[in-house]
Amino acid sequence: MVKICCLGAGYVGGPTMAVIALKCPAIEVVVVDISTTRISAWNSDQLPIYEPGLDDVVKQCRGRNLFFSTDIEKHVSEADIIFVSVNTPTKTRGLGAGKAADLTYWESAARMIADVSKSDKIVVEKSTVPVKTAEAIEKILTHNNNKGINFQILSNPEFLAEGTAIQDLFKPDRVLIGGRETPEGCKAVELLKSVYANWVPEDQIITTNLWSAELSKLAANAFLAQRISSVNAISALCEATGADVAEVAYSVGKDSRIGPKFLNASVGFGGSCFQKDILNLIYICECNGLPEVADYWKQVIKINDYQKSRFVNRLVSSMFNTVAGKKIAVLGFAFKKDTGDTRETPAIDVCKGLLGDKAKISIYDPQVTEDQIQRDLAMNKFDWDHPIHLQPMSPTAVKEASVEWDAYEATKGAHGVCILTEWDEFKKLDYEKIYENMQKPAFIFDGRNVVDPEKLRKIGFIVYSIGKPLDAWLKDMPAVA
Ligand code: UDX
Ligand code: ADP
Repeated sequence: MVKICCLGAGYVGGPTMAVIALKCPAIEVVVVDISTTRISAWNSDQLPIYEPGLDDVVKQCRGRNLFFSTDIEKHVSEADIIFVSVNTPTKTRGLGAGKAADLTYWESAARMIADVSKSDKIVVEKSTVPVKTAEAIEKILTHNNNKGINFQILSNPEFLAEGTAIQDLFKPDRVLIGGRETPEGCKAVELLKSVYANWVPEDQIITTNLWSAELSKLAANAFLAQRISSVNAISALCEATGADVAEVAYSVGKDSRIGPKFLNASVGFGGSCFQKDILNLIYICECNGLPEVADYWKQVIKINDYQKSRFVNRLVSSMFNTVAGKKIAVLGFAFKKDTGDTRETPAIDVCKGLLGDKAKISIYDPQVTEDQIQRDLAMNKFDWDHPIHLQPMSPTAVKEASVEWDAYEATKGAHGVCILTEWDEFKKLDYEKIYENMQKPAFIFDGRNVVDPEKLRKIGFIVYSIGKPLDAWLKDMPAVA
């Protein structure tokens, strides 16, 4: 029986291993983590991450061929294949930082694997990492190997998106496996391929060399982020000209060479991957003497930052140029719907912008806890990449931000509402009731284009939707930066 061990029970490791266990009953899968709270949560009825369909998959295999454990060394030493999905290195952040990614978690994972292994291992790099991480891991493993063990390193990047992880894993567009082009390398690639072949058609399993696999993942995320930045740049132009970004995106997306996906204008993209991966690309470009190409990718991030500040500026200028002392309800904090994940969510920058202008904000998100929100708002920009249990709680809780457990509570007495995540429930709210309980004039700023602006205008709201024709009210307000 093939035994798989996965290091890291996070957003990538947890769902991926659950689906492998479900689809491969003959394989034993053990997910291990240094966090005892995470592992206990995976072993309980309250899983540590929210992902539609995940509960069901875990229920079917847990205790059968899927296990969650903190006994890392035991399971690593028994496994044939070790997936590494520990925290992705994120320290390249900051434009032009010119710094290599911090591989702390990866390095300690690799050293531990070398220490405890007694038999041959295939080590699979799973979460997105900078190009050449596989090579670094390979060096650590081979230089700490005096037991004659054969370590094969594979890159098998994950393409699942949060909120649709289970569907993405069940029906992936493709599975990518990169390995060394040696006989041992090819054998390792074939073994991993045979695992996926349990449910993925063979022609969708692509095998490449190690670096192509690593770079393909960064490139795919950078291209997706670039599309959102492009449509967001068009949204600003729509507001200036009277075009409707939804109509423009629909028309553009009808071109079969372009396609309709990832063309929804928004307050900005977020999530743990896009910004980090683009910064990794920038770093690689700079290291390889390609500053012009680095500048090209920097622009994608700059437009994303611009979109967030444009939103805040639009809000403030519409509300008589000040939000000081005003209550602003924030609906949605996660970086997208159907996840409780807040990593790099545009809501952090928007809320900080509003708090900086002395607004009182009242936040509601169906899946994000109050603790998480307070921690995100109290934290310096790039601190979140440390797992929660390693993070010091900031003493400076953000006083002007409160968190409510209901959209109606959050909007009660508010001067304005902003929608920052496209949760389905925000489409179905009773906006007449919300309007009744707000200060007048009542404003709605829709950063995800989830509400019907015409219906809300009929109720009496002043509405701003990204990239849509502006209300007369907004047109009369001073131009935004
Ligand atoms: C992404 C990739 O899609 C996935 O393949 C990769 O493995 C990990 O990174 P994820 O970060 O989970 O997945 O979410 P994704 O659905 O890609 O959305 C990223 C951000 O873009 C979100 O903030 C989302 O709201 C935003 N977005 C997405 C838009 O603003 N407009 C769109 O049209 C699509
Ligand atoms: P991702 O979104 O990439 O899955 P997460 O932060 O959700 O990232 O998950 C990474 C997990 O890896 C965390 O639960 C963390 O505790 C765990 N982890 C970090 N280092 C190690 C290690 N050396 N061994 C096992 N687990 C680790």
